[in-house]
Amino acid sequence: MHELQREWHPASWRTRKVLQQVNYNDPLHLEAVLAELARYPPLVTFREIESLRLQLAEAATGQRFLLQGGDCAERFEDCRDDIIKNRLKILLQMSVVLIYGMQSPVVRVGRFAGQFAKPRSAPQETRGDVSLPSYRGDIINALEYSPEARTADPQRLIRAYQCAAIQLNFVRALSDGGFANLRNVDYWNLNFAEYSPFFSEYQMIIEKVRDALHFAETVSGGPISGLSRVDFYTSHEALHLPYEEALTRCPPHGRGMYNLSTHFPWIGKRTLCADSAHVEYMRGIRNPVGVKVGPGLTPSDLVSLTRHLNPNNELGRITLITRYGANLVEKQLPVMIDAVQRAGLQVLWCCDPMHGNTERAESGIKTRRFDNILEELELAFDIHAQSASVLGGVHFELTGEDVTECIGGASGIDEADLGKAYHTSVDPRLNAEQSLEMALRIVRKHQQMVLT
Ligand code: PEP
Ligand code: CO
Repeated sequence: MHELQREWHPASWRTRKVLQQVNYNDPLHLEAVLAELARYPPLVTFREIESLRLQLAEAATGQRFLLQGGDCAERFEDCRDDIIKNRLKILLQMSVVLIYGMQSPVVRVGRFAGQFAKPRSAPQETRGDVSLPSYRGDIINALEYSPEARTADPQRLIRAYQCAAIQLNFVRALSDGGFANLRNVDYWNLNFAEYSPFFSEYQMIIEKVRDALHFAETVSGGPISGLSRVDFYTSHEALHLPYEEALTRCPPHGRGMYNLSTHFPWIGKRTLCADSAHVEYMRGIRNPVGVKVGPGLTPSDLVSLTRHLNPNNELGRITLITRYGANLVEKQLPVMIDAVQRAGLQVLWCCDPMHGNTERAESGIKTRRFDNILEELELAFDIHAQSASVLGGVHFELTGEDVTECIGGASGIDEADLGKAYHTSVDPRLNAEQSLEMALRIVRKHQQMVLT
């Protein structure tokens, strides 16, 4: 442990074991690209990061709820008007459902503007007798199955930065420009499933919120300020450390270093171990950080990692994002909560019900079942309540598009439908309809718990 407490700097991770390391054929090209990135302006500001940290601290104690969602792997080709807008729209719709149903403010965090690097369990992908490097996210190589496409290309780091900047620009413009205005029919109307059983539930919520707003405006004699804009924060897995390092900056006040490529980086399951380069990098930045917690991590490892990442035990700094799967959560989550409580650690607990519930359909493609996702989530709510702990947030892989990647939900997507619109490059996402239904089901669960 003493060794681990050595002085930190943005490049100190380079002295540690780099899991999921990317090997570039031309290191000089990589260096040139990193130097260019280091000259670019940051993508987010430290003030935004600090305000997110305060909101996460509130979520940790149940005064707010975290909604984190977006693609498993963002694609450069998805840097498009409609895709960005639809993703924002579904996150906004879900957040209004949660605000109304849980009577709690929501902090909205996208898995976007940087979610370009993917950890892979196998370094090679074999098709027939050809073996090529696995696809590792658009920031590293391309999805197409050819030796050229699968070669890691440093120029992709610049493209990733640019796509993130384009998205952020659009998200900020929408968030400021009446995007969340409840009278803006474009954003509140559902463009799917008028027949669906939860359609009227959603319409009812939107109508009630509009009525309440109208009432408040009538009483106050004018528009209520602050209601037409919303905050969206960004998050991604801080996997490609050279990219993260190039965007790690010291703000003008000179207190500490921030990763200014995103508000909220997280450490994935595959790079989480005491001596990993990823843990070393994360320990020194001042952003709030997420830690994916799943099978294989022991309670004592979790406690020592959390202490190592948050030696001053600051509330809002650490979010533990648990991803056990519906079949393991009852056995493993209570033990982790107990260990964290005994150690007196202040954390925000968030449930990712996606990554522990991945399975292969008969056709061989990866899918997830709506029912398993919901079950893990409901169990997580129960387990936290039984442990006198707070489940302060949820983490989904979702899209605003009408894809068929996960099975189930009211629209009844079944295995045979999976091929119809299966577009994800890595993990299956909830489509817009399934996502909204999930938000409504969270509210139902919350209301049941309040009543009992
Ligand atoms: C992810 O969030 O896309 C991911 C790879 O998750 P995990 O690290 O929890 O497996
Ligand atoms: Co994923």
